[in-house]
Amino acid sequence: MRIGMFDSGVGGLTVLKSFIKYHPNNEYFYYGDTLNVPYGDKTKEELLELSKKIIKYLENKKVDIIIIACGTISSNVYDDLTKITNIPIYSIIKETINYALDRKYNKILLIATSATVNSHIFKKNIPNLIEMSCPKLVPLIESRKKEELNLVLKEYFKDIKEIDAIILGCTHYPIIKEEIKNILNTSIIDMGEILAQKIKTKDTLQSIDLYFSKTDEKVKENIKMILGDIC
Ligand code: DGL
Repeated sequence: MRIGMFDSGVGGLTVLKSFIKYHPNNEYFYYGDTLNVPYGDKTKEELLELSKKIIKYLENKKVDIIIIACGTISSNVYDDLTKITNIPIYSIIKETINYALDRKYNKILLIATSATVNSHIFKKNIPNLIEMSCPKLVPLIESRKKEELNLVLKEYFKDIKEIDAIILGCTHYPIIKEEIKNILNTSIIDMGEILAQKIKTKDTLQSIDLYFSKTDEKVKENIKMILGDIC
């Protein structure tokens, strides 16, 4: 099966990695919009404009399905995108909401980009959820500033107490899963893992085609850090 996937940058590679783990024999086409990262502080109009171009790119690759490997796009323009293409599109968020509801957590924390939090898509569906936007994280993750990242995480989480789980509402965040766990020590909900486990694919060949709208040393190192030997 030909599977298209996209994100603002390297974050969606965490979703790709989960998909390869559960469905290795598929043809993957990944688009990372590194030229326009971060998406988290863009308007809905800007997000729609950028993602329309990517949908066209994936249509030209003749993919069978498209996975929006980006919380920001999924939470803001998913419905609009389903109207511009006949290819079935999957949001990264829906299955995560179902997963969290099934587990009946008492108190759950969502961390995500500002655009995702401002859409309130999680809060509308999961009432006992605390929303927190973390705009500093994506740039720090992409530039791999570990020390600064740890300080910023501690500051974000300083008043968080007694939560049962944390939803990583941005696909960049699984890259810093360990750092988050070290501070919060709670169950971590990774959207890519959940969708990859739920989705059904028709196995064919294995191939991985990565495209980034801007490629530099930093991007190459990040791809290696996330995918390791896979590519
Ligand atoms: N990884 C994306 C998300 O899930 C985009 C983050 C960004 O570019 O700000 O929200």
